[in-house]
Amino acid sequence: MTQISLEAMRLHVAIIMDGNGRWATARGLPRPSGHRSGTEAVRRAVRAAPALGITTLTLFAFSSDNWKRPSVEVRGLLRLLREFLDRELDALLERGVRLSVIGRRDRLPPALVTAMAAGEGLTAGGRTLHLRIAIDYSARDAIVRAAQRARLPERPTHDDFARWLGDAYGGGDAPDVDLLIRTGGERRLSDFLLWESAYAELHFTSRMWPDFDVSDLTAAVEDFRRRHRRFGGVSHSEGPSTAPSDASIDSSRGERRRSPRHPPAVSRSGHDSNWIAPAKPALERR
Ligand code: FPP
Repeated sequence: MTQISLEAMRLHVAIIMDGNGRWATARGLPRPSGHRSGTEAVRRAVRAAPALGITTLTLFAFSSDNWKRPSVEVRGLLRLLREFLDRELDALLERGVRLSVIGRRDRLPPALVTAMAAGEGLTAGGRTLHLRIAIDYSARDAIVRAAQRARLPERPTHDDFARWLGDAYGGGDAPDVDLLIRTGGERRLSDFLLWESAYAELHFTSRMWPDFDVSDLTAAVEDFRRRHRRFGGVSHSEGPSTAPSDASIDSSRGERRRSPRHPPAVSRSGHDSNWIAPAKPALERR
């Protein structure tokens, strides 16, 4: 396999795992059992990811808005996350998965924070897949915290900012998101990875998360591979760029953060052709 096709396989997929509650309610079950079944879907996705060329997988497990849910559901979710970290560690190690948790840690139960740190430490050498789990995560809060790290009057570059974002919220150095999937039928980003998904392709499916299986993940990746990403430019066959020297606001690190299949042709400031109109506001769940 050539270097370019090897590189082309290196996908960062992020998933908003929505629909657990509705899945449970439709079966006459309490909402937390939807989250428990959702854990099985997480296992399936983690197992299937490497064969699909996914090298970074970021899962939205608990948003900072989720604190608004009934305390019994919040406690159940946090317990489930701790169980997952405790029980799944051996399997993650065996598969060469490196685990990171992104989000705030200061509001989480100490036992969960300890399990997170232990999991991150033990799996630090994993090279097959970087699994990032977002817990008490808010992209806006991450951006504000990163901005607070600015040492003015320095003028931070995009790379500086991306690094501060990682420092503020953890998760290590991850490339930009290539494909963002949301299950459960809603079409919104819900404060997830707003900076990192600036050029992500969006894939929405009505499948409820507990039902999301390997064929759904495969279909989403295949759909992504059919898309034509231009990053605000046009295809190279349509002529050389007349972009001013500072039009591409990527720094060298920023360039590497993207897939080499689709180098930015002109500028990152143009609108992406895959822009999707927001759905009418509905009751925000996360
Ligand atoms: C959204 O569905 C889902 C969540 C808030 C939690 C996601 C958590 C898991 C899948 C549990 C395990 C995760 C890991 C990483 C082990 P919802 O409850 O908002 O569903 P609804 O929209 O149908 O109400």
